[in-house]
Amino acid sequence: MTTDAQNLSERLLGALIGAAELFTVELGRELGLYAALRDRPLGAAELAKTAGIDERYAQEWLEQQAAAGFLTADGDTFALAGGTADVLLDEGGPYFLGTAGEFAVGLGLLTPRVVDAFRTGEGIPYAEYGRHIRHGIAAFNRPMFDHLLTAEWLPGVPEIESRLRATPGANVLDLGCGSGRSSITLALAYPAITVRGIDLDPASIEEARAAAATAGVADRVSFTLGDAADLDGSYDLVTIFEALHDMGDPVGVLRAVRPRLAPGGSVFIGDERVSDEFTAPAGEIERLQYAFSVLHCLPATRAEQPVLANGTILRAPTLVAWARSAGYDTPEVLAIPNDFWRFYRLR
Ligand SMILES: C[S@@+](CC[C@H](N)C(=O)[O-])C[C@H]1O[C@@H](n2cnc3c(N)ncnc32)[C@H](O)[C@@H]1O
Repeated sequence: MTTDAQNLSERLLGALIGAAELFTVELGRELGLYAALRDRPLGAAELAKTAGIDERYAQEWLEQQAAAGFLTADGDTFALAGGTADVLLDEGGPYFLGTAGEFAVGLGLLTPRVVDAFRTGEGIPYAEYGRHIRHGIAAFNRPMFDHLLTAEWLPGVPEIESRLRATPGANVLDLGCGSGRSSITLALAYPAITVRGIDLDPASIEEARAAAATAGVADRVSFTLGDAADLDGSYDLVTIFEALHDMGDPVGVLRAVRPRLAPGGSVFIGDERVSDEFTAPAGEIERLQYAFSVLHCLPATRAEQPVLANGTILRAPTLVAWARSAGYDTPEVLAIPNDFWRFYRLR
């Protein structure tokens, strides 16, 4: 075997181990097994009873999780390993990645459809990716919204931040809002503002409405099912988080937003942090995003009868060119640091 072949084979074996373990993480998340272990170490019989599952399966999962390093074993008793609660249970915490398994399952479930789509050229509607992908995206982005959006990102543009803090309260429009976490975070941080979220996906809008009620901001945060290009009203701030690249007419959306900006208003966009031009091999984050693009974003956008189907990889020069052709003379690429997203301001 050549060294190249050996290296690639080892890399794919590592990826297979990771993928298989991710599916077992999803088992633990979906069945509440990590949650059951949060309070105290358990043996298989106790775990089975607490979580309402079969004892033999519980035993195998516990051993496998300890073998993988997610749990520790002390005889027949198993406990969460250091960090497991932060990463797999603390949804909303800064280290949460408990839906990595859910994401993987969501992508895997649709892969046979993607195979067909590659043959036919057809798209796969976002809604058909189902709850795994919908929740996976929401939970993946939530720590960034909860811990960075109003603590770092918006304060990075003082003019926007001060308008959000001013009275009368600013009107904010959150396009491609998904399950609504960004809209809700904004409303919680800036008590005078009203936020309207718009998204094409009915299940996301339903979840967003429920989440706003739970967060106690439903009086100031509303959600509309619709296309981001179909707008009314006047807004001091329009946000688009990880959604412009998914839209079937991104230039049309930016063009539709422009006349909706109140005097002094801005568009604040967070989209993928990828290199400015195609480079292979790419960095790890770009590799992840390309895989999402092949398996999810591109098929979902193609289902919108798109004017343009970009896929996940939205490079800064492309976004700047879109903004210019939509009538924004001086689009800004902002110097706000983040591993996953790059930020832009248009006005
Ligand atoms: C990757 S998700 C991001 C959701 C949310 N902004 C977040 O960061 O968690 C992209 C969202 O864009 C929505 N979307 C795609 N095309 C759209 C369009 N033309 N108009 C409105 N929403 C759209 C999808 O339904 C999906 O909820």
